[in-house]
Amino acid sequence: MKSYATDSYEAAIERTLFTQSQIAETIGALAARIARDYAGQPLLVLGVLKGALYVTADLTRALSLLADGPAAIEVDYITVSSYGNSTRSSGEVRMLKDTSENIAGKNVLIVEDIIDNGLTLQYLRSLLGGRNPASLGACVLFDKPYRRQVNVPVEYTGFVAPDEFVVGYGLDYQEKYRNLPYLAQLRSSAFTE
Ligand code: IMP
Ligand code: MG
Repeated sequence: MKSYATDSYEAAIERTLFTQSQIAETIGALAARIARDYAGQPLLVLGVLKGALYVTADLTRALSLLADGPAAIEVDYITVSSYGNSTRSSGEVRMLKDTSENIAGKNVLIVEDIIDNGLTLQYLRSLLGGRNPASLGACVLFDKPYRRQVNVPVEYTGFVAPDEFVVGYGLDYQEKYRNLPYLAQLRSSAFTE
């Protein structure tokens, strides 16, 4: 599949790990499970920016197509920073933009692009869990289980990603490549550090 036209992107990509259509199919399957689990109940889908920009958009639209799903869906975004501009996590998570509404009494589903060491999700689960939601769950599209530092629950996982630094479908390297519609491994020549 010719997925991206710009030469500079093509030159930077080592290989495609998951195609646009594989991602769409997996998000559809995640949506079906979530629809079943929250059937008839209101659900607040809380995307974690910037990485979960696309997965949150695609998952919530997939949910809207399913009969017998959640009674009503709210979408909100928070912004956290854990990586800075490096390919290694600093281990330090900062909230840059909080939820726009109070989450008390709501069924909250955190949506993350990727889980690596787990510190970002652990931070979010503990922070949001302390605000009396009716329930709290997490959906992560890509799982890198190799360097987990904390044992944090993930109710819905899409793909297990290889032990590589990956970009695309929301994931960046120095703020670039988020807009690729597939998940890819970068060529070593594309790294500047
Ligand atoms: P964790 O705190 O190590 O679990 O990492 C979570 C965050 O790190 C994600 O939301 C991403 O922003 C970032 N991250 C982890 N692995 C990758 C990767 O391979 N490529 C790009 N960003 C990543
Ligand atoms: Mg990032």
